Amino acid sequence: MSQKMYIAPSILSANFSRLGEEIRAVDAAGADIIHIDVMDGHFVPNITIGPLVVQAARAVTAKVLDVHLMITDADRYVDAFAAAGADWITVHVEACSHLQRTVSRIRELGKRPGVVLNPATSLATLDYILAEVDLVMLMSVNPGFGGQGFIPSTLTKIKELRCRIAAQKLHVDIEVDGGVSVKTIADIAAAGANIFVAGSAVYGSQEYRETIVTLRKLAEVGSIRNCQ
Ligand code: DX5
Ligand code: ZN
Repeated sequence: MSQKMYIAPSILSANFSRLGEEIRAVDAAGADIIHIDVMDGHFVPNITIGPLVVQAARAVTAKVLDVHLMITDADRYVDAFAAAGADWITVHVEACSHLQRTVSRIRELGKRPGVVLNPATSLATLDYILAEVDLVMLMSVNPGFGGQGFIPSTLTKIKELRCRIAAQKLHVDIEVDGGVSVKTIADIAAAGANIFVAGSAVYGSQEYRETIVTLRKLAEVGSIRNCQ
């Protein structure tokens, strides 16, 4: 059975002086999801945006807003991001001391909760939380910046995660973030991911629509290789 492949442009690589237009442009170009990278200069070595910008994004698109919190103490901020209009809120297992509480709070707020793992973080950290989340996002670069190269060991990790989810008969999406491009997306889909964050690959291209269509096609072709 073929699964839908979702393309999520990351606005981190957009032109911030024209952010509204840039969000509308990928929306019109067929993006399924808008990925928003929130960085605090503490958990990751970069500072980006807060709830006000999420609120501004909410005003220009009806697409799913996928808010990726790369911040320590996510607990303190999930309410604010939910109120700003986030649809999905993902938090790092490395940054949450009370992960189960944070995940439950996101769900209580009526949002889709997801957890994120850095490249060197083991899947074992998911053991007691997997059944409570709607999605797991695997970082395929060390978070902080757009435009980095895909870390190949992520492919094995995606496969292992897909097997675990199937073995436990769960419905959990696998999202992959970092270095997703026309060169890497088919293999990422073949490994078992179904949501693809693409920052520089989309915003660094001339024709957003053409790029999104190509990425989705390559993901669909790749996913055929992913037979359980
Ligand atoms: C990295 C961010 C990513 C980033 C991906 O810390 O979480 O979402 O925007 O950028 P690309 O697609 O250029 O690797
Ligand atoms: Zn991200």
